[in-house]
Amino acid sequence: MLAALKKIFAKSESTETEYTEEFLDFSDVMVDMHSHVLPGLDDGSDSLEYSLGMVEEYIRFGYKKLIMTPHIMGDFYKNTPTGIRQKLKELQNAVKAKGWDIELNCAAEYYLDEWFLKKLEDSEELLTFGDNYLLFETSFLNEPFNFKEAVFALRSNGYKPVLAHPERYTYLYGRFDDLLRMRDTGVLFQININSLIGYYSEGAKRVAEKLVDQKLVEFIGTDAHHNKHMDALVKTANTPYFKKVLDLPLRNKELL
Ligand SMILES: [Fe+2]
Repeated sequence: MLAALKKIFAKSESTETEYTEEFLDFSDVMVDMHSHVLPGLDDGSDSLEYSLGMVEEYIRFGYKKLIMTPHIMGDFYKNTPTGIRQKLKELQNAVKAKGWDIELNCAAEYYLDEWFLKKLEDSEELLTFGDNYLLFETSFLNEPFNFKEAVFALRSNGYKPVLAHPERYTYLYGRFDDLLRMRDTGVLFQININSLIGYYSEGAKRVAEKLVDQKLVEFIGTDAHHNKHMDALVKTANTPYFKKVLDLPLRNKELL
């Protein structure tokens, strides 16, 4: 694994970063449950070839399984379970043809909008992973008025709601107690690994670190849309907070 990581460092821009024997790779995480690697479905990978390149990087990092989660969003990405499974099959076949050893599966990242609530109300199939976990996100800027109702409806229907990157919602900044209240309603948290190096913003980094400090993280994900995200992961792996997050009882491994 170390040899593989050396290769990654040579490729990345972080040449001044030195790794030591303590260097952590991602084989401790085993399973990534949030990414946009499936081609042509959202703002992630736009071709099968590009997806293959990303999968190759995950293998180098030591991942054993990817649960890929295209956006499902009424305004932009009206993806369906059938369409997503079709792309999964294409990528699985391409990975198999390469002879690579990694399991590929899919779920989705549902945007909390009317379109989603209608699906829930109509009992349409929703894509989940593991023990009926459902990954969802909200607007980054505007607080959704129906958050509580949506969580209640999800849980009443047997889903376990997992909020994607709670550290990235600016409307929650300075309102950490509201994040705690969300958890009281049964919401689980997935933070983005790259938040720990401040990839998105200083604010996101601070909230992510606080969530880690208070042991309020069930899942970590790459949320990788492209190779820039993959490259940043290498830098994150060297932060003390990454080490800290790996000491939490993360549920990623449950998904293997
Ligand atoms: Fe995402």
